[in-house]
This record gives sequence, structure tokens and C-alpha cells, in this order.
Amino acid sequence: DLTVPQINRLLAHSFYSKQLSKPWLKPHTPNTKKHSLKLPSQSLFNKTVALLFSKRSTRTRVSAETSATLLGGRALFLGKEDIQLGVNESPRDTARVIGGMCEGIFARVGDHTEIEELAKYSPVPVINALSSLWHPTQILADLLTLHEHAHEFAPATQKDDLSHLQTSIKARKHQKVQSFPDLRPLTVAYIGDSANVLHDMLVTYPRLGHQLRVASPEKYRAPPEVWKKVEELECDKGIWWGTDPREAVNGADVVITDTWISMGQEAEKAQRLQDFDGYQVTEALCREGGANPDWKFMHCLPRKQDEVDDEVFYGPRSLVFPEADNRKWTIMAIFDLFVGKWSIEDKREGK
Ligand code: CP
Ligand code: NVA
Repeated sequence: DLTVPQINRLLAHSFYSKQLSKPWLKPHTPNTKKHSLKLPSQSLFNKTVALLFSKRSTRTRVSAETSATLLGGRALFLGKEDIQLGVNESPRDTARVIGGMCEGIFARVGDHTEIEELAKYSPVPVINALSSLWHPTQILADLLTLHEHAHEFAPATQKDDLSHLQTSIKARKHQKVQSFPDLRPLTVAYIGDSANVLHDMLVTYPRLGHQLRVASPEKYRAPPEVWKKVEELECDKGIWWGTDPREAVNGADVVITDTWISMGQEAEKAQRLQDFDGYQVTEALCREGGANPDWKFMHCLPRKQDEVDDEVFYGPRSLVFPEADNRKWTIMAIFDLFVGKWSIEDKREGK
């Protein structure tokens, strides 16, 4: 439920936090003595974010734990084998109890209704770390990665005014901080399963001026609750949807996919492999479909070869590892703004 100004603020925050925390990433930084860690915020000092994870995670969990440390606080990992939730205790009671002891809840759940239930009863902010329907923190990392690689896309036909991204962030005042790079409107193709990652792309990319072209087999069309939100946010005009992956990649600057078998769908594996036959992202598919010759590749990970071959995944077009690194900086921005700097007044105002 992030607004466009919130998305832009989080992206700029992530970008500057990353530079301040990892100045060696800036090739032009002249003085190595300045390479000490300069943290933009310690807003989680003496605070704890509970990580309620009922599914596996590498990137989201490690990002959450390491970014909470950088913000001066603690992330408390509570896997499904650790606590009573789902076995002896309801989401309602769990939210009330954990929310009484921690300052935020970052939850990875099965059905999306579980996170809605947690949010309804928690006295502190609840952030979605992945549900059956949505994966919002992933999309922020993807967008940050695209901004960082903006110079690798062919020049914009007209200059986009993104100067608003460069204001209001304290870190910008640091003399050696590089400006947040403009990103021209892109054509983004998504090939594969209509799952949580795509659903958040559908309600986010068109609002930022990017065109989405999706190819998924007919029976995997996004569910009605996702289309409802797409329409509410007037994103439908920015989306082309079809079943032919070659048609979808036409003119694409970026090609994105996800696993064909999301966590919890393991029993459907054989059927899904059959249904998605022909949807593997390859150089040949993108060439035949007429993707922009400089197209880039992204994937949220974890990845199987089924959906993208090694040539693309490990090749020069691939942004998958910078994208994975960016999970940390974007989750850090979320924790800083929505947990560290959150107050009970925000709750009263319905934030
Ligand atoms: N992309 C992503 O959410 O990865 P993990 O499942 O490893 O957290
Ligand atoms: N669609 C995938 C995303 C993993 C990060 C899943 O839900 O398993």
C-alpha cells in the first residue's frame, strides 16, 4: 500500500544509506581515510523487530537481520517451529503479544489473510515479508537496482524530472554522496507465473511511468483481488497481458521472471512444468521477440534453470546479484521509516 512519494522516498533513502554505509562502492571516492562507516540513522537503537517467518528465506531474512543491526537494533527471528503461531495460538493473539514486546513485525506468511490478521491486531507496524499474493519489499530492491543501472539503458527521449528524489534526505548533504540516478520510463517484460512478485510489479511499475508486458499461460492469470487493486490504482493502462512470451518481450528494456513453483506449490510441480513449457527466458527468445538489444535481466531468486537458462542468468545482462544485495538497503529504509521513526501517533492516524 505504498504511495508513489513513499516509494521514491524509500528508494532515495536506500540509495544514500548504501553509499554512506559502503563508501568503497563509489569508485570515485578520493580519500580512503574517509571510508569509515557513517550510518544515516540509529533509529532502531534499543528496539526489536520480530521476524515472523512461516516460510524459508535467505535474502529477506539476512537483509532484515543485518539491516536491523546497522540501524542499532535487533531482529528477532521466529520461525514456524519456534513459536506457538499456527499450532497452539491464533494470529490475533500472537500479534497482540509480540506487538507488546517488539517495536515492529516483519512477517512472511502463507495465505495473505494471515498478514491482514496480524496487522489488524498488532499494536505496532506489520510489514509484509512475502505472502501468497504480494512481495512488496522485493519490488523496492528491483527498482533501486534499475535506478543504479540507469546509465546502461539507451538515453531517454526527454529528461525525466526526478529532482524530487534528491531532496529531503539528510545523507544528500554529505559532499561525497553521488546523486540519485534518473531512470527513464522503461518497458519491462515479465515472463512466467503470475505470483506475488509480479502482482506487486502490476500495482507499482505503471504508477512510476514504466510499461509492463506480461506473458503467462491463460490459467495463471492474476487473481481478482490483484486486478481490483490494479484498477483502483489506475495501473491497467500501463499493462499489456498475453500468453506469448515472444510478444511480451517486444521492445523490452528489462526482462524479469520468477520461479514457476512458489513456496507451498510443490505438489503442483509436474503440472506447472508442463504448463510453463516454452516460457524459459533465453537469449534466443528475447532476440526473436524483439527485445531492446541492451535488455537487462532480473529475478528475485531463488532461481531454477527451468525459468531462465545459465547463459542469461550468469551473463553480462544479469542484474540478479546487485538486485539481491539491494534487498538489504531497501529493507533497511523500510525499517528506519516504518519502525524506527514510527510513533503511536502514526497508528492513531491509521498509518
Ligand atoms: N527474493 C526473496 O525473497 O528471497 P528469499 O526467499 O531468499 O528471502
Ligand atoms: N514467488 C516466489 C518468490 C520467492 C521469493 C515464492 O513465493 O516462493
